[in-house]
Amino acid sequence: MNKTENLFNLVPQPVSIKASDAYFIFQPQMAVFCPDEFQGEVAVFNEQLEASTPFKCRRTENKAEASIIIELTGGSCGSENVNAEAYKLTIGESVVTISAKTAHGVFNALETLRQILMCCKTPNKGSPFAHYSMQCAEIEDCPRFEWRGFMLDCARTFFPVSFIKKLIDAAALHKLNHFHWHLTDDQGWRIPVAEYPKLIEIGSVAPDPRHQLRDYTPKKDAFYTHEQMKDVISYAAARHIMVVPEIEMPGHASAILASYPELGCTGGPYAVEGRWGIFDDVLCAGNDDVLKLLEATVKTVAEIFPAPFIHIGGDECPHVRWETCPKCQARIKAEKLDGVDQLQSWITSKMAAVVAKYGKTPIGWDEVLDGTENIALPQDLVVMSWRGAKGGIEASKRHHRVIMAPTDGGCYLDYPHLSDPAEPGLQSVTTVRKSYDYSPLPDALSEEEKLNILGGQGNLWSELLSSQKLAEYMLFPRLCALSEALWLDKKDKDFDSFSERLKVHKERLDMLNLLYYRGPLEE
Ligand code: ACM
Ligand code: ZN
Repeated sequence: MNKTENLFNLVPQPVSIKASDAYFIFQPQMAVFCPDEFQGEVAVFNEQLEASTPFKCRRTENKAEASIIIELTGGSCGSENVNAEAYKLTIGESVVTISAKTAHGVFNALETLRQILMCCKTPNKGSPFAHYSMQCAEIEDCPRFEWRGFMLDCARTFFPVSFIKKLIDAAALHKLNHFHWHLTDDQGWRIPVAEYPKLIEIGSVAPDPRHQLRDYTPKKDAFYTHEQMKDVISYAAARHIMVVPEIEMPGHASAILASYPELGCTGGPYAVEGRWGIFDDVLCAGNDDVLKLLEATVKTVAEIFPAPFIHIGGDECPHVRWETCPKCQARIKAEKLDGVDQLQSWITSKMAAVVAKYGKTPIGWDEVLDGTENIALPQDLVVMSWRGAKGGIEASKRHHRVIMAPTDGGCYLDYPHLSDPAEPGLQSVTTVRKSYDYSPLPDALSEEEKLNILGGQGNLWSELLSSQKLAEYMLFPRLCALSEALWLDKKDKDFDSFSERLKVHKERLDMLNLLYYRGPLEE
């Protein structure tokens, strides 16, 4: 890439930047002329500017005094582009013009402008007549993938709303558009369900092995009220980020079983887990009361979350208890199933139908495909491929939509940045380069099958995270790299260019008080 293309050091890099030699000179107080329907986007933009730059913006009715003009005219990005998120940002000598087809396109343009303004230096710093300048340019841009996400595990480590909002705002800076909120697991249940109060009274209170050497009292109130969740959802929506909740089932269920031991195959006793791992005690697939609890939860989630999707987990569910449980065996017989593998598919189908009953579309980890070669899963079930690309390939060949998040593709952000034992994290290694190089489109798919791939996401599991700062360190700058891997077409990506831009982009992470890894980007 040449110098012009690296202008402004943007991440993700826009599809096209054309620069001129002229400069736009402006004052820190900017007037924005825009249709009423974009006042929300402008208000968020102003909030973001005030938080980390010397700039402010306010709306004006007077076009002649505007330094930013927003028009709903249809951004272009290639001739026949119909991408709703596309935008055009023109920095002229006297005004900055944004044109887009949708509010999301306008927001993307404003986030590009936010990045530019965050690194905008005053030429006469300290002067009371300070004015600022940016190089004139024309940016035409649109994303390659419609699903550009990040997942935060708030079950293993309970993160406060303030931190979640901080990450959502950082995600918006990188034009990510989905936040996958992992709300339940062995180590904690984080969402109140009115009919099942013990899920919170017992299931949200976990021993924490990291603190066992100290005088440690398990954390109480480690859950999100419905009001708090709605607050997160509207904060994210204002940034054009969809919040997709995940309720784990039928495995990773220790918090449910500790709360309602009668829902396990053996009856317990069970405890909310302090250890991490995969545990044999899972929900009893032969017990109708399990389905009732899950339905009450899905109903609650559907009422709180406006997203069209509910993630129903499905990963890492051992079947050993089902093998010897009379209820599970009776279910296998009654439903004429082949065995315990099909029992899991039966639960998946059952819960997918419940999700549909409440007007939503189910997402499941790729285990939902196991043992289902001859079983019709609901066609709208979206598969999240994490054990490599294999599940995603199979799912898209079977006409399911797919979100890619493979462990070996740079999408697992709980892995260490390097194989250096000094780095935090466990299991494999995800270098920044690996995240950058990731492409969600496997070569094994035909062009038609590739259309089923919605995009991808970075996952941050939190078994080993002892603090918000450590979470940030694991996320950044790998999430920056992934944001570009999901924004650009493979042919337009350039790691050397990204590495150069990242040097400046880190200043933006600093301005947002985000801790990030500073070591080598590859090994
Ligand atoms: C997973 O990482 N168990 C989905
Ligand atoms: Zn059972």
